[in-house]
Amino acid sequence: MDYFIESAPLDKLQSDCLLVGLYENQQLGPAATALDQQFGGLLSKLIGRGDIKGKNAETLLINHLPEGGIQRLVLVGFGERGKIGRKQFRKALIAAVGAIKASKVKAATAALLDIDVEAGDVQWKARQIVELFGDGVYQYSATKKVDDKIPLQQLAIVASEAQHAQAEAGLQQGAAIAAGVELAKSLGDLPGNVCTPTYLAEQALALAGQHDKLTCQILEEHDMEALGMGSFLAVSRGSRQPAKLICLDYQGGDSSHKPIVLVGKGLTFDAGGISLKPGQGMDEMKYDMCGGASVLGILRAVTQLNLPLNIVGLIPSSENLPDGAANKPGDILTSMSGKTIEVLNTDAEGRLILCDTLTYAKKYNPDVVIDMATLTGACIVALGRVPSGLFGNDDKLCNDLLGASETACDMLWRMPIWEEYQEQLKSNFADLANIGGPDGGSITAAVFLSKFAEDFRWAHIDVAGTAWRTGANKGATGRPVPLLTQYLLNRATA
Ligand code: BES
Ligand code: MN
Ligand code: ZN
Repeated sequence: MDYFIESAPLDKLQSDCLLVGLYENQQLGPAATALDQQFGGLLSKLIGRGDIKGKNAETLLINHLPEGGIQRLVLVGFGERGKIGRKQFRKALIAAVGAIKASKVKAATAALLDIDVEAGDVQWKARQIVELFGDGVYQYSATKKVDDKIPLQQLAIVASEAQHAQAEAGLQQGAAIAAGVELAKSLGDLPGNVCTPTYLAEQALALAGQHDKLTCQILEEHDMEALGMGSFLAVSRGSRQPAKLICLDYQGGDSSHKPIVLVGKGLTFDAGGISLKPGQGMDEMKYDMCGGASVLGILRAVTQLNLPLNIVGLIPSSENLPDGAANKPGDILTSMSGKTIEVLNTDAEGRLILCDTLTYAKKYNPDVVIDMATLTGACIVALGRVPSGLFGNDDKLCNDLLGASETACDMLWRMPIWEEYQEQLKSNFADLANIGGPDGGSITAAVFLSKFAEDFRWAHIDVAGTAWRTGANKGATGRPVPLLTQYLLNRATA
């Protein structure tokens, strides 16, 4: 998709399809009012006969218009004026993107910056328009012929002289985030027999190859052996695909600045290992690398925005399969930190690959470490599929992430990691058990990780319920790329 700012006035505009907004009770927005005059009251007439009321997410496509530069019009309802928050704006836009897709146009123009949004300025609106269009035109095609290709290739955003600078900034941010989300989604949707640890490593190397400030180094199993990553390597042992620890380094800031370290779980298929998962829905465990894909997506966005920060991306990547060499319940592992771990369930493998990666992160002398992982089904039980779960040992970091999530509309909810939960991870045979029983499973997983993150400010984001959609509309979402990119944008301007 191509995005650009359109500065021609509406009466001079050339467009295949123009989007304009209206409010509930048939109130036209400013752009719609101007067009109504231009078209001799056409919009008022359609509205007057009740074709559209202006309720949130209502749309009306007008396929034929009087002679002029505008070929089609999509009216978009935003709801009651004065009561439109960020979520309502996004919801209406998602409907608008749907209408544009149905109209089969190649190029669209959005005259929607004039809609009043609570806590949504011109920059925020421009960015959301780009992000939601980018998201809406995504189509998986790697292993499937797409008959109904979405023809939309261009989106212009109408901005007045006064809006231009803000709109342009929002467009740039939106385009970068959209590109990052697209990368994360396309990797997430790939099947496990294509997207292996080796494949992920190749993608990381390719990404680094495109940008001067980004370098990539892959640690192989023998390197991990030498580092003493007994926990990570145990997970990989039951798989014929070699594990990889993907290390990306983005140097955008002064070399004296401590890096922000992002860690993403890159389990390219999680069958559970010897503690095999039930068959129902197991295919979705190809998405168990979405945390890792998001780290790549975030770095994709960061390089496009050329942010003046130092960022390290670490992606432990492996499969979790059962075979004769696989680790077994009761096995004791020695992690890189020296802590021993009793494996009570081989399906709790994410924390086993992440704990060694967190220990490894220390060598970067990080400012903060933020990991993202499809870590626990229990997180979905606790929070559903709306927010990701946030855990952390530092209130400032957690609050910064919560703030970023509000702006990005990539929801997050903080959960506790109080010491009371540590009881559940006690083992008679090791320093820690790898599971904490049925109660509070997303919390005990986070508490387990926290034991490997004691030397730095750390946050953990459980994206088990948010990294992909299940059901008929199954597909990766690219979350939490918008959230983390916003956090980094905030850090870059702080
Ligand atoms: N990758 C899964 C978590 C998961 C499950 C994410 C379903 C999204 C949907 C993780 O490796 C796992 O299997 N966790 C176990 C932990 C349990 C054995 C303590 C789980 O959630 O059941
Ligand atoms: Mn598992
Ligand atoms: Zn897993």
